Amino acid sequence: MDIKISQMNLSDLNNIKDILTTEFDDFWSKNILNDELLNTHSKYIVAKLENEIVGFAGLKIIFDEADIMNIVVKKSYRKNGIGSLLLENLINIANNLNLNTLTLEVNEKNLNAIHLYECFDFEKIGTRKNYYKNNIAIIMQKQLKQ
Ligand SMILES: CC(C)(COP(=O)(O)OP(=O)(O)OC[C@H]1O[C@@H](n2cnc3c(N)ncnc32)[C@H](O)[C@@H]1OP(=O)(O)O)[C@@H](O)C(=O)NCCC(=O)NCCS
Repeated sequence: MDIKISQMNLSDLNNIKDILTTEFDDFWSKNILNDELLNTHSKYIVAKLENEIVGFAGLKIIFDEADIMNIVVKKSYRKNGIGSLLLENLINIANNLNLNTLTLEVNEKNLNAIHLYECFDFEKIGTRKNYYKNNIAIIMQKQLKQ
């Protein structure tokens, strides 16, 4: 698959706004993403197969660290390496910005995502009770500059 990664912009969001909850994930609404794209501390990328957006991901920078805010692949394109490609690009962005750590929260039941993060040397550093639907979130972190 010839997937190209580029910076995500508002027109990309407009392109996927109607299928966000059905074909990507049920959590990231258009309004939240719109705010994220306008936030100067956030960096978002999209994965495109020709002109079709097949995934996106973003991080938010807090001083010399960043939180991965989301990484989502279009349902029909999962298990093709696109999630890995997006994560690899976020790690490169963080490294280029000379950040120290990358941190994220993931639902303890989301084994696909946990496995993906472990493949990129993220380690579990704690848990947090998520108020949404009483879920437990696992906090994972990757040390950069190694
Ligand atoms: C988590 C998520 C981003 C992973 O995306 P993905 O594109 O499926 O990830 P990848 O394809 O890179 O890797 C996932 C699996 O596919 C396998 N894979 C990668 N390339 C492959 C290929 N060419 N053929 C077959 N399998 C392949 C990987 O080995 C991995 O399998 P494993 O977990 O059994 O080892 C995706 O499942 C998703 O969007 N989930 C919903 C949103 C979400 O939960 N995001 C995380 C929030 S914290």
